[in-house]
Amino acid sequence: MREFIPASRFNTEGIRLMKLFSSLILSLLTISLSFGQADSTAVLKYAGQHIYAGVERCQVCHEADDIGNQFGAWQASNHAKAYQTLLSEEAAKIAKEKGLKKPAYESPECLECHVTGYSDPKAEYGEKYKKEDGIGCESCHGAGEFFRKADIMCDIEMAKANGLIIPKEEDCLRCHNERSPRYKPFDFKTYDEKIAHKLNPEYKCENAEEEDEDW
Ligand code: HEC
Ligand code: HEC
Ligand code: HEC
Ligand code: HEC
Repeated sequence: MREFIPASRFNTEGIRLMKLFSSLILSLLTISLSFGQADSTAVLKYAGQHIYAGVERCQVCHEADDIGNQFGAWQASNHAKAYQTLLSEEAAKIAKEKGLKKPAYESPECLECHVTGYSDPKAEYGEKYKKEDGIGCESCHGAGEFFRKADIMCDIEMAKANGLIIPKEEDCLRCHNERSPRYKPFDFKTYDEKIAHKLNPEYKCENAEEEDEDW
């Protein structure tokens, strides 16, 4: 169902090098799953659809307390301000250091990891999509136009067939890697806990309603 697409149309050279490097390591050391995972930073996973609906389209159902308010947890996380960060003085400094021609908030070299969908070469955007939402739900869970309906969401296999991704460590490493100019060593367990947004275990999916008529 899913196709594999090079991570970025802007950094194909870097990716080629990364792939070359990791396959070199692989063949030299004949190993280990963890290197296999490192290699997967070079690819993005998508189902055969690429319409990013926008955070607001997830918020309608995922802000309620009975489901566990995943929206609130996301909003409190740094992912929600990843675009704003590109407007900061620190970002301007980095852009200058790197000799970028445009400001950070307009540079593909930065937007790639600071805005949802940017590195998806086939991305299309729904009317609620806003780049100001930074790293939104769909950066990790996949473009949501088709899986966000209640009857589909309640059947996880159906949701996955419609593009829902349940992300793992390798999906984080797409952005949390040394290509980030302010890279901090990434420990999946600690980082994952910092962004925890669990479903309420009491939640009954039968109660889910189509809250948004205007699909
Ligand atoms: C119409 C309501 C609705 C909308 C809109 C919606 N969801 Fe959901 N979502 C649900 C419900 C209900 C569940 C719980 C499913 C269950 O209990 O099995 C769920 C579950 C999930 C899960 C967990 C899947 C699992 O079973 O582990 C993820 C991830 C998710 N939604 C992401 C999103 C994203 C991303 C969006 C926006 C693109 C979105 N949802 C929009 C209702 C919705
Ligand atoms: C599409 C790119 C992208 C993906 C995928 C991604 N992140 Fe991030 N993450 C960022 C960016 C950019 C920031 C910095 C945001 C800022 O401060 O403006 C960040 C920041 C964070 C922070 C805050 C770190 C701090 O020191 O404040 C945590 C925690 C985090 N991410 C966890 C994760 C985890 C866990 C995953 C995978 C499940 C993940 N991220 C996937 C781009 C991404
Ligand atoms: C490969 C993905 C990636 C790229 C490309 C990227 N960033 Fe980031 N950026 C991140 C992540 C992930 C973080 C969070 C830091 C961490 O926890 O590692 C971050 C954090 C930041 C921060 C906050 C630093 C801090 O210490 O709080 C700034 C500022 C920033 N990025 C600016 C930029 C600028 C400017 C560019 C373009 C020149 C850029 N980034 C390109 C992934 C990226
Ligand atoms: C930085 C990546 C990232 C972002 C952004 C993100 N999620 Fe998640 N989400 C995850 C990870 C990782 C899991 C845990 C998957 C697992 O259980 O293995 C998860 C799990 C979930 C679950 C299931 C929780 C459970 O208990 O099974 C729901 C529902 C969900 N996310 C909804 C959302 C919604 C809605 C948004 C936006 C408001 C969002 N997520 C934004 C990475 C992310």
